[in-house]
Amino acid sequence: MHIQRLAAPLGAVIEGLNVREVTTQTWPDLNRLFNQYKVLVFRNQKLTPEDQANFASLWGPLVHHPYASTKAHPAIMTLTNYGKKKDVNQHWHSDMIYNPVLPKLTMLYGLEVPSIGGNTAFSNQTLAWAELSEGLRTTLRSLRAVHSAAGLARIYGEDPKKAPFAKHPVMRTHAETGEPALFVCREFTERFVGWSKAESAALLEYLFQHRARPEFQARQQWRRGDLVMWDNRCLLHFAVHDHGDEPRVIHRLQVEGETPQ
Ligand SMILES: [Fe+2]
Repeated sequence: MHIQRLAAPLGAVIEGLNVREVTTQTWPDLNRLFNQYKVLVFRNQKLTPEDQANFASLWGPLVHHPYASTKAHPAIMTLTNYGKKKDVNQHWHSDMIYNPVLPKLTMLYGLEVPSIGGNTAFSNQTLAWAELSEGLRTTLRSLRAVHSAAGLARIYGEDPKKAPFAKHPVMRTHAETGEPALFVCREFTERFVGWSKAESAALLEYLFQHRARPEFQARQQWRRGDLVMWDNRCLLHFAVHDHGDEPRVIHRLQVEGETPQ
C-alpha cells in the first residue's frame, strides 16, 4: 500500500490496496488515515455495488434514500451527468446540513469519468476554524445556526414551507477526533438562532467568504476506478461542473452519522 498526500490542506491517495480485502481487523488503520486526512482516494478499484456497500459498512450503517436508490443496491444512488439541467451541487456544502441527523461520510465510486474536469473540490473546515481570530471564535462558540432546504424544495417544485430544517452549532466538534470545525453553508444556512436574517447576514457573509480560502482546499481529479470518501463532519465539498455533456457516472452512498455537537 502506497500513500501520497492529495494536497497540503487535506487528502491522501492510496494505491496498491484492494478495498474488497479490508477486514474489521485492518479497518482501524484506514479509519486513522481517514481521521487524519479527511479525504481518502483509493485508485484502481473494481467494485460491484455490493462491494462498495460492504466496504462502506465498516464505518457504520448505510443511509437509505427511498426515492433515489439504484436497482443495483438500495443504499447506492447513481449520479449521472445531465449537463447543467440538474446542477444543484455546484456550491460549497456539507451533505444534508438541513437535517437533524447527518451522514458521517460520503463515498463516490467513479464508473465513468470525463476526460478532464468534473472535479470534486474540498475545503478543510478544521483549518477554516483555526484561522479565525480568538475573538470571533469566542462569539461563534455560543452560536447555533438554522439550516433549511427551502431553496432546494423550490428548485424541485415542492412546497418550501414543508422543507426540512435543523439547528446546529456553528462550531461543530468532530465526534472521533474532538477537533472543532466551522459548520456553515451559504445555500442552506439562513441565520443564527435568536438572531434575525438581517442581523445574521453580515457575519454569515464573512464566514462564507472565509470558509473556502484557497489554502483550505484540495481537488479530486477523477480517474475511472477511483473510490473517494470524505468526512462531512469537518469538510465542505463542491461539485465543479466544467465538463459540459461528457459522461460522468458515479455510484454514491453515505454512512449514517449523528446530530452535530
Ligand atoms: Fe454533496
